[in-house]
Amino acid sequence: MNTPPDANLPLVFPRPGTPGTTRLVLLPDPDGGLPLALHVGPVDPADLPALATAARANRQRALLPEHRRGDTGSPGLAGHRLAGHGPGDAAQVPAGRDWTPFFRTRQVSADDEELEILATDPASGLALCTRAQALPGGSLRVRHELTNTGTEPYLVDRLEVALPVPTDHTEVLDFTGRWARERVPQRRPLTDGTWVREMRGGRSGHDGPLLSVLGTPGFGFGTGAVLGVHVAWSGNAVVRVERLATEPTTVLGGELLLPGELVLAPGEAYRTPWVHVLTAPDGLDSLAASAHRYQRSLPAHPRSPRPVNLNVWEAVYFDHDLTRLTELVALAAEVGAERFVLDDGWFRHRRDDDAGLGDWFVDEQVWPRGLAPLVDEVRRHGLVFGLWFEPEMVNPDSDLFRAHPDWVLSADGRLPRLQRNQLVLDLSRPEVVDYLLARIDTILSEYEIGYVKWDHNRALVEAGSAVHGGAPAVHRHTQGFLTLWDELRRRHPAVEWEGCASGGGRIDLDLLSRCQRVWTSDMTDALARQPIQRWTTQLVAPEYLGAHVSANRSHQTGRVLPLDFRAATALFGHFGIEWDLTEATAAERAQLADWIALYKRHRDLLHSGRVVRLDEPDPALWTHGVVAPDRRSALMARVQLDESARLLPCPLRVPGLDPTCRYRLRWAGPAPLLAPRVDGLAGQLDLGPAGGESVSGAALATIGVPVPNARPETVTLVHVEALDG
Ligand code: GLA
Repeated sequence: MNTPPDANLPLVFPRPGTPGTTRLVLLPDPDGGLPLALHVGPVDPADLPALATAARANRQRALLPEHRRGDTGSPGLAGHRLAGHGPGDAAQVPAGRDWTPFFRTRQVSADDEELEILATDPASGLALCTRAQALPGGSLRVRHELTNTGTEPYLVDRLEVALPVPTDHTEVLDFTGRWARERVPQRRPLTDGTWVREMRGGRSGHDGPLLSVLGTPGFGFGTGAVLGVHVAWSGNAVVRVERLATEPTTVLGGELLLPGELVLAPGEAYRTPWVHVLTAPDGLDSLAASAHRYQRSLPAHPRSPRPVNLNVWEAVYFDHDLTRLTELVALAAEVGAERFVLDDGWFRHRRDDDAGLGDWFVDEQVWPRGLAPLVDEVRRHGLVFGLWFEPEMVNPDSDLFRAHPDWVLSADGRLPRLQRNQLVLDLSRPEVVDYLLARIDTILSEYEIGYVKWDHNRALVEAGSAVHGGAPAVHRHTQGFLTLWDELRRRHPAVEWEGCASGGGRIDLDLLSRCQRVWTSDMTDALARQPIQRWTTQLVAPEYLGAHVSANRSHQTGRVLPLDFRAATALFGHFGIEWDLTEATAAERAQLADWIALYKRHRDLLHSGRVVRLDEPDPALWTHGVVAPDRRSALMARVQLDESARLLPCPLRVPGLDPTCRYRLRWAGPAPLLAPRVDGLAGQLDLGPAGGESVSGAALATIGVPVPNARPETVTLVHVEALDG
């Protein structure tokens, strides 16, 4: 033991005075056990004695709750020794031993960036290292590493990070959804019991919680104390919000481990995913800002202005034809697109979604001269060429499956039920990773490819590995997926990567540390996409969120929406096109080109600023926007989703500007955005919503300026700029 147990406690991490809004307060455990996690959130050091006194009167949990403290809630560790032979003698010993450890703290050390707690339980043959890191943006991330220091294998069923929740946080918000309808918010009062969100499909899921938020009742975008938790893992995961009469409210998060999939041999260790925790005293926008600032600090975060993508999926689907695609390239260039992405359908046997996945060779029949003629055409027009892959998947009707039927994830000797006619390859097997690496590497090396869309179109179910007798393999498969991707990134550092899973089925902070974009949703109907984008930005910065202008009549809903509405919706993400431009009229293409020009003018602001969303009293109206980091400009959107109940216009407020600065406001957008109903303002269009007067940042935050109600399915844009000086 290097340091007396808990010698450095009580401890505030990161220490007061350093940047960061989310702090972790730890207290010594009177028994010398794991430090007790008293509080996560903003804290005034002057309040520490009072906090400590309150804590002594209450039961507290450690970052890894243990039953030995009398705790009847969910333990942080569930595991045990397998049945076997005792050391040194041949007697059979039963399974189930060492299941309820008592970790003693050996050392606590912290600097401004990292806190480390080392603990051991010699009797159970286990050691625990818990790490917390302070992140740019003011949040924290925490993870455990468990080492089997015993002499027999140790089965881990669960290892989760537990975080305390302030007692006044009695409302829970998280998300659910489905294909083409991701990130639907759901709220509930916190009641006794455990609210468990499991992601069992081997990915964060269309119905995943994204960010589990607890807050004071009625918290909104700009009000209420809030705490959000996210498990940064692209495999199976779990979040538990637990309130019991006998224990403090806790959020636990970690990897969801399937039966028997994690057995630690003596000396082996298991590390949990990072569990992120964000807190804010003033609502959901501050939580989002903290998450976005963290993403903007990632080495993989896109540094260059986000180029306008044209993705051909909804234009041609599987109907790959060089002449038609060449025509599309020319039209893409004409409207101002900067990247051309060839989606599904280019590889062998892939004439529809029945066949070909796994056969990553350019189809010789459809592309007799390879992809070169198209790639050359794209580059001749000055665009970057992008290509679609779905590496982890295989169709039973493929050369790969015929050659290696045992390469798929399956249990008990039978194949899992097909989804979208496909199975999942077993990436826990190095030879499978090697095959994919070689094939994708070859294609990326052969052509000038600057962009890859990496798809994942089915959930992992019955995901066992033949190598391990059909035992679950999602954990190892997920590691294989990450290894494959990291190696491809290493070999092709100039390539940008888009994460996709039937739209937005795999979006998490682990993935975001590797890619530059995610495909937010297959829902390209702008009206249905408004809520998906609004809520995905709760965690993900807008520059990551692929947002495309699609056909006049939506392929998903059949709804016809005005081009201005479609484009103004896409404007607030990473702008792109998913439309057969050969079907668009010349006037529509000119209109689209104007929107693209507008996007290019504002993308620096849109992709670096603070996202603001307003709590509006009228459900037919949404307001959102982005305020520049220096607070000297903002671009705001008033979205008229439906008919307003009221005739009186609802003022447009702009939170987050400099209260003492004066601003000029102008209507923005290439089109006459105000609907004809706004006759009264017709003469003032040049003057903007404040009639040409300047307005202080304070007044904009509280009073706002009038923006008339408009027709349903319209967006009114307002650009805000500081007056000089
Ligand atoms: C998924 C993606 C789409 C498209 C298709 C291709 O559904 O979300 O954008 O790439 O696959 O099969």
